[in-house]
Amino acid sequence: MSNKVVLKADNLHKHYPVSQGLGKPKAHVKALNGISFELEAGKTLAVVGESGCGKSTLARQLTLIEQPTQGELFINDEATTGYSRKALKDLRTEIQMVFQNPYGSLNPRHTIAYQLTEPLDIHTNLSKEEKRDKINEMMRNVGLRPEHAGRFPHMFSGGQRQRIALARAMMLNPKIVVADEPTSALDVSIQAQVLNLFMDLQDEYRTAYVFISHNLSVVRHVADDVMVMYLGQAVEHGPKEAIYNAPKHPYTIALLAAAPTVNGQKKDLTLQGELPSPLNPPSGCALHKRCPYATSQCSEIEPQLREWDGRLVACLRLEEIYG
Ligand SMILES: Nc1ncnc2c1ncn2[C@@H]1O[C@H](COP(=O)(O)OP(=O)(O)OP(=O)(O)O)[C@@H](O)[C@H]1O
Ligand SMILES: [Mg+2]
Repeated sequence: MSNKVVLKADNLHKHYPVSQGLGKPKAHVKALNGISFELEAGKTLAVVGESGCGKSTLARQLTLIEQPTQGELFINDEATTGYSRKALKDLRTEIQMVFQNPYGSLNPRHTIAYQLTEPLDIHTNLSKEEKRDKINEMMRNVGLRPEHAGRFPHMFSGGQRQRIALARAMMLNPKIVVADEPTSALDVSIQAQVLNLFMDLQDEYRTAYVFISHNLSVVRHVADDVMVMYLGQAVEHGPKEAIYNAPKHPYTIALLAAAPTVNGQKKDLTLQGELPSPLNPPSGCALHKRCPYATSQCSEIEPQLREWDGRLVACLRLEEIYG
């Protein structure tokens, strides 16, 4: 069965203007530089990369919190760029977001029942009883007791609060959920439970996920496809198996080498230096100053994503590295 594409990003850019001081021209933080992907119903795209590479910026474009400076975003085949806020209201119900800190998305002054009802009040005409049934069902689905719906957020543990945030995101049965580091603030022991909950809900509702994490072992559990980002661009993108079993981009190899041993096989590649500033990204390949394989052409030519061994890779030197 071929699945429907529910989310499509086409060459998304986000450049933030920032002041350089009085009388000086504005500079631009190039947080996102041409991200493209397609996501099918019921599938998970994991987005990974170092702090500052643009993951949350991508999440904000996908969830219509911000408008990209360039590129086009399609939700369920509908183009979203350039539309008014009002026109986007209905599309917003199709794509929901879960944040790292559920306290940020839950209102401490309202009960859980109130916060789960709110989306139903705004977007549906369900009766009071229907709403109550739906809330009870969702509470059970996320592993909480419906009779606790009258409690306030502070009366739950961190893991339970993330379950509530997920319940709230799922209330309108969205086609897509974008989760930005949803388990990073939780105890390791709780993380696995919350990840399993994500998987169970996906099975039940066929929701598509964009799952953002800097932790490659977290993503391994949930992903179908993996996109590795570096300085606002995708450097490697493809099926999970290909990327974990045989990463090809030097940056992916370094990320995996830095992660706690994946599959027992430790690949050795250490990058020099630090992530450059997106205010002034390097010429050519953004990684060239840190990459042990880089030659002079890497500082001049910007590599484009191209097919290589069952995934897309943006590196000029694949032929030389892999013969
Ligand atoms: N509104 C903004 N104005 C200016 N620069 C911004 C803005 N939002 C983000 N940035 C910059 O864009 C870059 C990408 O930030 P982003 O938050 O997307 O990274 P991230 O990959 O989510 O990092 P982390 O893993 O730490 O959450 C950073 O250099 C950040 O400082
Ligand atoms: Mg972030």
